[in-house]
Amino acid sequence: MKFKTIEKYTFVEDKHRQYLEELSEFVKQSEYLPKYHIYPKSGLMNDPNGLAYFNGEYNFFYQWFPFEPNHGMKHWGHLTSKDLLNWDDKGIALTPNMEYEKNGCYSGNAIEKDGLLYLFYTANYKTENGKIPKQAVAIMDKAGNIEKYINNPIIDGAPVDMTGEIRDPFVFRKDEKYYMLLGAKSKKEKGALLLYTSENLLKWDYIGEISLSIDTGYMLECPSFIEVDGKDVMILSPMGLEKEELKYQNQFSTLYLVGKLDIENMKFDLEYMDEVDSGFDFYASQAFYGKGNKPMMVSWFGCGEQDLPTDKEMWKHGLTMPHNLKLVENRLCNFVSEELNDLFNDKNEFNSNIIKTKSNYYHIQFNMCKEDENTWVRFGNEDDYWELNFDFDKNVIQLDRSNLKLKVDINNGLKRCTEGLNKEEYKVDIYVDNSFVEVFINEGIKSFAFRCFNLNNEEHNIHFSNENKGSINYYNK
Ligand code: FRU
Repeated sequence: MKFKTIEKYTFVEDKHRQYLEELSEFVKQSEYLPKYHIYPKSGLMNDPNGLAYFNGEYNFFYQWFPFEPNHGMKHWGHLTSKDLLNWDDKGIALTPNMEYEKNGCYSGNAIEKDGLLYLFYTANYKTENGKIPKQAVAIMDKAGNIEKYINNPIIDGAPVDMTGEIRDPFVFRKDEKYYMLLGAKSKKEKGALLLYTSENLLKWDYIGEISLSIDTGYMLECPSFIEVDGKDVMILSPMGLEKEELKYQNQFSTLYLVGKLDIENMKFDLEYMDEVDSGFDFYASQAFYGKGNKPMMVSWFGCGEQDLPTDKEMWKHGLTMPHNLKLVENRLCNFVSEELNDLFNDKNEFNSNIIKTKSNYYHIQFNMCKEDENTWVRFGNEDDYWELNFDFDKNVIQLDRSNLKLKVDINNGLKRCTEGLNKEEYKVDIYVDNSFVEVFINEGIKSFAFRCFNLNNEEHNIHFSNENKGSINYYNK
């Protein structure tokens, strides 16, 4: 197929439809496509946006540049689902075709009011002297019609001590009021979390900066706020945290803070914090309330700038599966939502140290136990595999991509380590979806989301250091 050169800040118009359809046909031939993760029909997908259970169905929006697998003009794509298994593709929800958003409709969240879904987003607006931060809203009715608010932007400009880098509105309701969090970079080049308030979701007043008592790097992106098991949880994506042996190994990081948001004193009383996920390809999580108000989260299955083998196939990245959130001893667990179990209906028990599989689409479950001397498991063939290993003595869990033939994102390292839980035995759930893999330790108290490009269309081994038992449940569609 012959690809067109498209100027970076081009928004989609009718004249592009045919080309985009051809591109999506081309993408269908990719050998790396997942079957149960959300990925772009063409081009680049990044942050999940506007996640909501509205009018009896899940609405997921996402950052999307449809023309190329690069960070270009961002649109909001839109998908709906009643069950989190079958998705209807609604195409583009927000096209950046207004002057105030001339460089893209950036990330934001959604909240329901009076039977309407309010979609908040950053209207990206660049000038020669940097950005002018603008926040905007669009309103979706129950029939799915979306209209941008006529008086957009609803917030224009920056508080005095902030730079023009302010984005990713997250609106929530607390004590009968609406609040909006925004991620920012201060003039002192520190990540900052700003708070606004509103009575009607359209007129917003600035309150100030929330003090966080953690390192926020040089910029904070994609804040989320959610109540989980009676506690307040903030999820934040800071840029520029210093790498530590067991943390912050990716280009950018996503953290959770458990405690209490004290709006009166503009601070977060921190009880516990950690990185949300320890994998290579995870960022910009967004929390939301799912059906029955259950706390959930979806994250970008990617991070920063990465070259991937799918670039030449004209698509890049995707989203994690929907995760449920719960607290265990003040730690945030993110674990695949139970609805997703219905994807896998061909369960096979094993009791062996090598399992052969022809499929690259499955959920495998087992325990890793110190007493059994089971310290590693490898996925792939002898000269081309990724490995998860447990150092019970040092209390470290490691994911290792260094033995894969096709190595990606090498600049950010080939291994990821995280602190274990000082246990002698761990429960492990791994969801393999071709090039998308999600690993969960003890139901998500630790997790690793990452891409790997070795499994496609080939029989491969799952190889344990010692005999192990468990089950493998295939996705057969
Ligand atoms: C995070 C982010 C957001 C921004 C969006 C643009 O990945 O940089 O801060 O709104 O992506 O696509």
